Amino acid sequence: MRILPETVLLPPRIAARRGAAHDLAAECRAFGPRGLLVHGLSLTRGGTLDRIMAAADRDAVATWQHPGGEPTLDQLETLLDFGRRRGADWVAGVGGGSVMDIAKACAGLLRARKPAAEYHGGAPLPTSEVPFVAAPTTAGTGSEATPVCVLTDAARRLKRSFRHPSLMARLVILDANLLAGCPPPVIAASGMDAFTQAVEAFISNRATLLTDALALRAAGLVAHSLEAVRRDSGSGEAENLLAGACLAGMALSNARLGVVHGLAHPLGARYNAPHGLACAACLPAAIRFNREAMGAKYDRLSAEIGGDLLATAEALMQRMEIRSPFAGRPLTDVPAIVAETLESGSTAANPRTVTADDVAALLRIVFA
Ligand SMILES: [Fe+2]
Repeated sequence: MRILPETVLLPPRIAARRGAAHDLAAECRAFGPRGLLVHGLSLTRGGTLDRIMAAADRDAVATWQHPGGEPTLDQLETLLDFGRRRGADWVAGVGGGSVMDIAKACAGLLRARKPAAEYHGGAPLPTSEVPFVAAPTTAGTGSEATPVCVLTDAARRLKRSFRHPSLMARLVILDANLLAGCPPPVIAASGMDAFTQAVEAFISNRATLLTDALALRAAGLVAHSLEAVRRDSGSGEAENLLAGACLAGMALSNARLGVVHGLAHPLGARYNAPHGLACAACLPAAIRFNREAMGAKYDRLSAEIGGDLLATAEALMQRMEIRSPFAGRPLTDVPAIVAETLESGSTAANPRTVTADDVAALLRIVFA
């Protein structure tokens, strides 16, 4: 096994302490005077946004609230227009995966020449010169530590990634206080995304010793802290969950993922299922499918999380009261879902080669 990937992609600086979000405006001044802070509705509750903005020059730093749901190309065009009119020197995303992803895409395309849809359709992304700052308020996607963002073309029901090394955040703020007040279903779904990402990065056919260390520890941290944080988002375990999700993001940046993420995008776009729930629903079937190809890694993961991997994944979902968004629903558009799953870079990194028949069989299990 390789020790390092050919290119190691990690965020250059992480401020990991409670209260660090209050320094966001001061930290961002180093990137230029004019900024754009993208956030979700939850940040306006409890005065968190006000406390962050109290340290900012309000004439120079604009805020933009993401309307909710998973980010779309239309929302991105609106945000890009706003950011360009404001002449933003930097873009910060303070929120869950959706907020960080759309803020990251905004930073990446702020000075790009073509419409966002052309890049979404496959045109090569330009190198981004606009610094992106990420502060997660959920522990899940690990978007703060990846050069990837996922956006949906709502009209075509197509969920695709933008990926470029220059999309990596210049500064990550891991402030466990930002998790406080996060609703239990959001903690549960985003935590299952982080757990899935840790497992998939660990068993990926592009795994290295570096990503194994990150992914294995990520799986353990998430498995051991998720229930406590779901019960109480102010729990001391929140720091472990946030760190675990971030380590999983670092691992997937360098090892990619697997067939769960290959399935989760086409299914999420068609069934309007939140990403974490889509991943959780596909994970047990994918673990069974990959069991042999995982070899000794199955036992290493089981030892790290303190119980048999498959049983623990299923038990976690039960204790989190996660219900599959697909089970029992009619399965339609199978040929297109199969084609999109097979095209996915995540599926290409799956430890067992995935055929069209395999995807169809996995879909039947997930929708049973
Ligand atoms: Fe994910």
